[in-house]
Amino acid sequence: MLTPQIFYSNLIPNFEIQSDDILIFDQKLSSFYSDFIAQFPLKFGVSGGEANKEFSVANELIKWTVQNARIARPRFIAFGGGSVGDLVGFVASIYKRGSPYISIPSTWLSAIDSAHGGKTALNVAGVKNVVGTFYPPQSIYLSKIILESLPKEFEFDCWSELIKIGLIDSETLFQELLTDNLETWKILPKAIEAKYRIVKLDPYEQNGQRRVLNLGHTIGHVIEAGTSLSHGKSIGYGLQFALYLSQKYGYLQKPLKIPKLPSLEELKSVLRQISNTRELLNQDKKNVGHDCYFVFVKKPGDVVTAKISLAQLHDEIQLLCESK
Ligand SMILES: NC(=O)c1ccc[n+]([C@@H]2O[C@H](COP(=O)([O-])OP(=O)(O)OC[C@H]3O[C@@H](n4cnc5c(N)ncnc54)[C@H](O)[C@@H]3O)[C@@H](O)[C@H]2O)c1
Repeated sequence: MLTPQIFYSNLIPNFEIQSDDILIFDQKLSSFYSDFIAQFPLKFGVSGGEANKEFSVANELIKWTVQNARIARPRFIAFGGGSVGDLVGFVASIYKRGSPYISIPSTWLSAIDSAHGGKTALNVAGVKNVVGTFYPPQSIYLSKIILESLPKEFEFDCWSELIKIGLIDSETLFQELLTDNLETWKILPKAIEAKYRIVKLDPYEQNGQRRVLNLGHTIGHVIEAGTSLSHGKSIGYGLQFALYLSQKYGYLQKPLKIPKLPSLEELKSVLRQISNTRELLNQDKKNVGHDCYFVFVKKPGDVVTAKISLAQLHDEIQLLCESK
């Protein structure tokens, strides 16, 4: 898998736009970045969020491209959050069996996580990321002005993905992430490099080494699907569960206090609200038969995966919910 070139800039991305480029942009960005968007002669607006990640939208985009493209394999430019990246990456990967693609993430979550690693995805029948390909963009343009103009809650929301990568990577990155008044833009390159260090070991998820990136996500996804909490907040709860189980199973020798994570009491109260935990656990596409690979923390910079049955994991959730 090709590793994309990553460009960081304080301003709006400034690359040579070709007359045959196709910009696919989140329409919410139109009013803020009208001058940038206007530079593209060929453009296709989409609504932000999960509604983008549907076959019907991919089909519309492909049809529109067939009718409007000026060259056989146009360059697709995705401008938006993770949902736009997942859609455009998918379409680029199948259009004429692969067309060039550039990513301009417009949310912290996409800048830190979803733009990197080459995964594209569509949802089917209300189930997330059922269909997808591995297809990284050629280049990724990260812009400080775009990211820092986002409402603060977007930044808080991506914090759990940052702390996840710190826990996996090293004590040094983990400690840096815990410093007061952390500037997300400044830590971004280190967090992204840490993710690529893992992705490169297992770019197509074939040898298991990439599984560690799932830290906090097994229970995080259950919470995301079973409540109205955002992805970022749900992963925060999922990380707390991973720390709890790591300590209970003897991987983590002493409690690891991470101030911004939800507490164990808060985790219990969220899990108690979900009535169909078993079904949601069973839906995870990373399951292997009736088991999953759970990511445990030994210490920051040292995480391990171990197979655990979904039934056992379900029992652990129940025990935690019933505990005082
Ligand atoms: N491919 C991967 O590896 C990967 C990894 C993690 C998450 N994801 C996917 O990413 C998606 C979530 O990412 P996201 O939160 O970036 O998603 P998003 O694209 O759904 O954006 C979230 C919301 O923010 C709005 N928005 C986007 N940019 C904005 C801006 N600059 N200012 C104001 N509003 C803006 C959008 O219109 C939308 O309402 C999910 O679909 C998830 O499955 C993919």
